[in-house]
Amino acid sequence: MSNQFDVIVIGAGPGGYIAAIRAAQLGFKVACIDEWKNGKGGPAPGGTCTNVGCIPSKALLQSSEHYDQAAHHFADHGITVEGLKMDVAKMIARKDTVVKQNNDGILYLFKKNKVSFFHGRGSFVKSADGAYEVAVTGEKPDTLTAKHVVIATGSSARQLPGAEFDEKLILSNDGALAVTEVPKKLGVIGSGVIGLEMGSVWRRLGAEVTVLEALPTFLAAVDEQVAKEAQKIFVKQGLKLELGVKIAEVKAGKKGVSISYANAKGEEQKLDVDKLIVSIGRVPNTTGLNAEAVGLKLDERGAIVVDDDCKTNLPNVWAVGDVVRGPMLAHKAEEEGVAVAERIAGQHGHVDFNLIPWVIYTNPEIAWVGKTEQALKAEGRAYKAGSFPFIANGRARALGDTTGFVKFLADAATDEILGVHIIGPFASELIAEACVAMAFKASAEDIARICHAHPSLSESTKEAALAVDKRTLNF
Ligand code: FAD
Ligand code: NAI
Repeated sequence: MSNQFDVIVIGAGPGGYIAAIRAAQLGFKVACIDEWKNGKGGPAPGGTCTNVGCIPSKALLQSSEHYDQAAHHFADHGITVEGLKMDVAKMIARKDTVVKQNNDGILYLFKKNKVSFFHGRGSFVKSADGAYEVAVTGEKPDTLTAKHVVIATGSSARQLPGAEFDEKLILSNDGALAVTEVPKKLGVIGSGVIGLEMGSVWRRLGAEVTVLEALPTFLAAVDEQVAKEAQKIFVKQGLKLELGVKIAEVKAGKKGVSISYANAKGEEQKLDVDKLIVSIGRVPNTTGLNAEAVGLKLDERGAIVVDDDCKTNLPNVWAVGDVVRGPMLAHKAEEEGVAVAERIAGQHGHVDFNLIPWVIYTNPEIAWVGKTEQALKAEGRAYKAGSFPFIANGRARALGDTTGFVKFLADAATDEILGVHIIGPFASELIAEACVAMAFKASAEDIARICHAHPSLSESTKEAALAVDKRTLNF
């Protein structure tokens, strides 16, 4: 029967489409089901990441960064720009083109790898005779069966009670990526990754951005030294940041949104903005799966319960990415997708959760991998720290971007690298060296002894490694 597969993958975000491709590479007959629709109702595989996440946000961050450079930094290079203007509609259209290129790329990859793609919602019907039956509902309803099912249904923005997303005034990431003119005043609730990245886009284009954060600490998961530096820089750039707030009420009116909240001292405050982005975390997508039909176990947050190997409570049913525990990152979802496909094939797929890098694509970028200094202190682990500022790096000076530093944390006795933290230009690219080094259990001295090209930002990585042994050469 043509609708009998070895593996059915539900969801074609980075977790699902990569799992499907890897399973097909390993010789399985694979189906992948995804319900995301583009503006014309057609398939748009790639999930949150491609449609309303990683890719479109980076497209807008790039456009707004170009504008900011032209407005404030070209003059340093002797370039005068007169009559600088921002065509927001064109910026959004470019972003949509980038998204479509990625959607099309995934459809091409499915064809290339002989993955059968089904556009619609996938939900469990039953399990019988060692196989699962999954219904596809959509324009072309279908029923598929397979021995293995990989669930990669992702996540959606968490709503603030009493402030439902209308995507016109109260925006999730979806609406925040589709604003058609620069708001005069933009409010952001939640100073996490989305709040900072999307706040940066609209601030660079001229919006007055106020971020309201519940926690008393800024970027609590980030290395404290980096978080402090970031806070100082963002505030200097013009971001208004209020920590330790308690939101009381959010009211959307005809023209804007009014937010009542208590500040850190408990004083009642009011903020009126043209638009409000609510970025207070995300919730797993499990409602459409009909999990009850097969007895799939969910936790109290609605996430699918899995073990370290992404196995659910059901035989041969796996789950990866945002719909399970762990950081909600595209590359984490991908790694889990690959590992699951390999486990289905009887191989030993592995994901090292300590080696998943994080990047916040603000300017300066923030990137890190491994342990923070505060975590090592809390563990009582003896460590050595070394850092190197970009201001002492020739390439950074030539670029005209000398903010930030690279910081190494290494075991006091063995010198093994335990964490690397970067704030500064191209931190997102520089962090890869740290991931490779840590995957090979390198010591700080190993990095310090490797020849790095001159002039390059990566010399700051080498110098920070040298700093662990207090022997920087250029600082
Ligand atoms: P998703 O990408 O959410 O994909 C799930 C797919 O499953 C969707 O297409 C959905 O429609 C589909 N689906 C759900 N239920 C069903 C069903 N029953 N039947 C059929 N299909 C279904 N991460 C990074 O690593 N780097 C970044 O720069 C980054 N930027 C981000 C920016 C924003 C604004 C946001 C919101 C997120 C960002 N992320 C980033 C996070 C990243 O997008 C997610 O971690 C990643 O998309 C998770 O992948 P996934 O495959 O688990 O799920
Ligand atoms: P987040 O978890 O990064 O940040 C949410 C913030 O909102 C936290 O600081 C939290 O304390 C605060 N908050 C929660 N409730 C609040 C309330 N009631 N009032 C005020 N503040 C409140 O979540 P975010 O920004 O929504 O992003 C979701 C996830 O998407 C991220 O955790 C990340 O995994 C992923 N992402 C990754 C990106 C990247 O890798 N560059 C970019 C964007 C998103």
